[in-house]
Amino acid sequence: MSTKAVITGWGKCIPPVELTNADLEKLSDTNDQWIIDRTGIKSRRISHVDGTDLAELAGRRALAAAGLDPKELDLILVASTTPDLICPSVAAMVQDRLGAVNSAAFDLNAACSGFVYATANAAGMIESGFVKKVLVIGAEKLSGVMDYRDRSTSVLFGDGAGAVVYEASEGDAGVLAVDLGADGGKGQTMVLKSMGTNGNVFESLLAEEMALHFEGQAVFKIAVQGIAASVTRVLGTAGFESEEVDVVIPHQANARIVDAATRLLKLDESKVFMNIDTLGNTGAASIPMAISDALDADQISPGDIIVLSAFGGGVTWGSIVLKWGERTERLGHHEGELPPTDATVFDLIEPNLRFFAELHGLDPEDLPS
Ligand SMILES: CC(C)(COP(=O)(O)OP(=O)(O)OC[C@H]1O[C@@H](n2cnc3c(N)ncnc32)[C@H](O)[C@@H]1OP(=O)(O)O)[C@@H](O)C(=O)NCCC(=O)NCCS
Repeated sequence: MSTKAVITGWGKCIPPVELTNADLEKLSDTNDQWIIDRTGIKSRRISHVDGTDLAELAGRRALAAAGLDPKELDLILVASTTPDLICPSVAAMVQDRLGAVNSAAFDLNAACSGFVYATANAAGMIESGFVKKVLVIGAEKLSGVMDYRDRSTSVLFGDGAGAVVYEASEGDAGVLAVDLGADGGKGQTMVLKSMGTNGNVFESLLAEEMALHFEGQAVFKIAVQGIAASVTRVLGTAGFESEEVDVVIPHQANARIVDAATRLLKLDESKVFMNIDTLGNTGAASIPMAISDALDADQISPGDIIVLSAFGGGVTWGSIVLKWGERTERLGHHEGELPPTDATVFDLIEPNLRFFAELHGLDPEDLPS
């Protein structure tokens, strides 16, 4: 039996402050019903701390669930499109904070497909024998770059982090097949020029340059077709029919994208795990957070065949087939929490509102409460 990468720990960190559809109604010409009907999202979280803080806590929780000391880690891999800094990487900062002194560390950016790409890297390194224990984190602070008065993007995205521990195993469980791909020729459909979400990213930048550019309908179509094709390929590689899949954990981009891909693949929709309603699209963090939530909701059983699938900027896509191991309970819990905050959501997004005000012909001092 060959060496495989099996998930032994999982955790997530969601910041406490919510940005509801009612809050967004105060910022642009949108409404709760439109957002729910077109995206499935009711609320998303806005972080009062750095993305690295979210990544660290999700990582600590995943390590506790795996019963691992950070010193046992060989590699920390963070997928993020919104790191605090480009250098040092989020992974290196997390490595330092955890005291994971025997671990290598690097970040990877494949936008919303980042966690799937990171899993493929972790699994490949484990299968080759280069490493044995890997902490993979997906972490995003998308609120650091959003124009919250642009209704075409502001309704979708949220902050958060999710983490998974992969360990070498000689059993039949673990990552069974991978499909990764990219089409850089379509890259202009999603463009984010901002660099780093630490501090005031808006200082000395031009608003018209920095707003997230997004061709919603084009992305929608590419995403549905891309996910369906990728899942078909990865199931073929793993040698499974779609009926043999127990749980599908898709990137939580938009409930309608997932529904359309589910129909195209003729998958049983009861097997598709969704948590987009309360978290929104959290980029590279969405799949590991959904894995954690699916376990908490008892939707994953020992030995289940699981498909992870994502699509994102670049454009990039990726799907994984994995067989869950024997344990669906955490070995331990990390008791730490984020520092509390009294900030309102409008306090947290005030720099964004001021910075992008001129794009909407508004006075930067004209702020909602
Ligand atoms: C962005 C997105 C939600 C827009 O939904 P859509 O159904 O494509 O909406 P459209 O752009 O066709 O707009 C439909 C109508 O709603 C309006 N509209 C757009 N955004 C709106 C909003 N936030 N609130 C209210 N109305 C809105 C449009 O102006 C348009 O009105 P019209 O028919 O009078 O012209 C959708 O395209 C999407 O989710 N795309 C993929 C995004 C994504 O997940 N990307 C990340 C991939 S990782």
